[in-house]
Amino acid sequence: SITRHYTFNIGYLNVTRLCHTRSILSMNGRFPGPSLIAREGDRVVVKVVNHVSNNVTIHWHGVRQIRSGWFDGPSYVTQCPIQTNQSFTYNFTITGQRGTLLWHAHHSWLRATLYGPIIILPKHNTSYPFEKPYKEIPILFGEWFNVDPEAVISQALQTGGGPNVSDAYTINGLPGPLYNCSSKDTYRLKVRPGKTYLLRIINAALNDELFFSIANHTLIVVEGDASYVKPFETDTLFITPGQTINVLLKTKPYSPNATYLMAARPYFTGRGTFDNSTVAGILEYKQPSHHSPLKNLTLFKPTLPPINATSWVANFTKKHRSLANDKFPANVPRKVDKKFFFAVGLGTSPCPKNTTCQGPTNTTKFAASVNNISFALPSVSILQSYYFGKSNGVYTTDFPANPLNPFNYTGTPPNNTNVSNATKLVVLQYNTSVEVVLQDTSILGAESHPLHLHGFDFFIVGQGFGNYDPNKDPNNFNLVDPVQKNTASVPAGGWLAFRFLADNPGVWLMHCHLDVHTSWGLRMAWLVLNGPGSDQKIQPPPSDLPKC
Ligand code: C2O
Repeated sequence: SITRHYTFNIGYLNVTRLCHTRSILSMNGRFPGPSLIAREGDRVVVKVVNHVSNNVTIHWHGVRQIRSGWFDGPSYVTQCPIQTNQSFTYNFTITGQRGTLLWHAHHSWLRATLYGPIIILPKHNTSYPFEKPYKEIPILFGEWFNVDPEAVISQALQTGGGPNVSDAYTINGLPGPLYNCSSKDTYRLKVRPGKTYLLRIINAALNDELFFSIANHTLIVVEGDASYVKPFETDTLFITPGQTINVLLKTKPYSPNATYLMAARPYFTGRGTFDNSTVAGILEYKQPSHHSPLKNLTLFKPTLPPINATSWVANFTKKHRSLANDKFPANVPRKVDKKFFFAVGLGTSPCPKNTTCQGPTNTTKFAASVNNISFALPSVSILQSYYFGKSNGVYTTDFPANPLNPFNYTGTPPNNTNVSNATKLVVLQYNTSVEVVLQDTSILGAESHPLHLHGFDFFIVGQGFGNYDPNKDPNNFNLVDPVQKNTASVPAGGWLAFRFLADNPGVWLMHCHLDVHTSWGLRMAWLVLNGPGSDQKIQPPPSDLPKC
């Protein structure tokens, strides 16, 4: 293994989409940003330089950061933000992972334009556990706003209402031909016939889980969140923000007299306004050189599941199984030291006196919580406060293991939907094996929440609709070949159970990867203590760690 050095310069870039030109934040002058490429086992050193007026941090989403939690990236959790004209050098080793992940800004809503692929190749002389692809192609989903997304979220937090939705979804930064003033901004994937392509699919969208399909082509899912899965075929994918899925695309044996639309649009379960539009790109075949260019190509369009296809989503999720073989075992904890039951969902908080809010009522603001606690970010770094013994006034360690207000999660909402704001952590001894059941509260309507855990992969041992039953449901847990993820959806009106081993000391955020829900407080954090061995302790902080 080697060390790979990168410099990431954050600067402004003028970008025009949908006939609107904006000066956006971009990485190395590119939108979407450049790929970070490494092999399993490599050390990656990325100097991030901030040339813009915003504070910013970068998160290496899904990278385990073993003992290197200082470089995880969420602002005010593992570091203070990088200020204007300052830099911070992230430095981590990619251990035991190979596949696709993503990097993205982890401060406010800056992820809207600051994101890119992390491509982890297998070690030298190691092959994929599937057919060697002819070519590998990143496909990134995002969202385009005609206005500054920072203004969108800050206005929403002030008024207490829901933020305005984006103006388009994008594939590799391009909205495609189904939007007005956009057909020239269409992603085109040019392929040769009779080949196998590896598509590295990444959902970096801010607020939407997406369906994706390519007309008249089958996709073979081989990997998700940088872990291999038992291959399975599907016409359509479901992918949440923060998830990555690698698929094999086998092209037709001969160049057809046709092109094929690839399209993505949201799965939507909540209430309120949302964008139900469709982003499209085009799959086209290179014609043999002796052909004169073909005219009047037929355009095939894919069919996507309906916008509220909740049972389709559950079935698709259940198809994911880890390889669970000698080479790639599923190290799911068999015994559990600590169990947690987390109610996740939306709620309200009171509107300040003499103001009219735009929440569910005009005396309430939208909020979101885990166990009725809406996680408040402090104004200093939690990890730093912990490491230097200065937790006073920054955080407490009494995060509840169960909801504070019990109720029937899929029935009528309780009279009091108010959440409380606090910075509470769960403390775990090193090497604790943890089981977490996440239950959708459905307080303001049943909603799907893609939960992301920093610092670990977890194994999904079970999921279901309705209320989790602690007496019955564990009997059906999959401890044989559960899928290994860093982001997974709590089903709308249902529950998800996962296990992980707390073998990585540090402070680790867990949150809904829909940025609007994160901003409303649907997040919490784990504090994993050092173990006794010298290789079980978090490394000392780097000298250029930003100050608040
Ligand atoms: Cu991809 Cu905490 O984020």
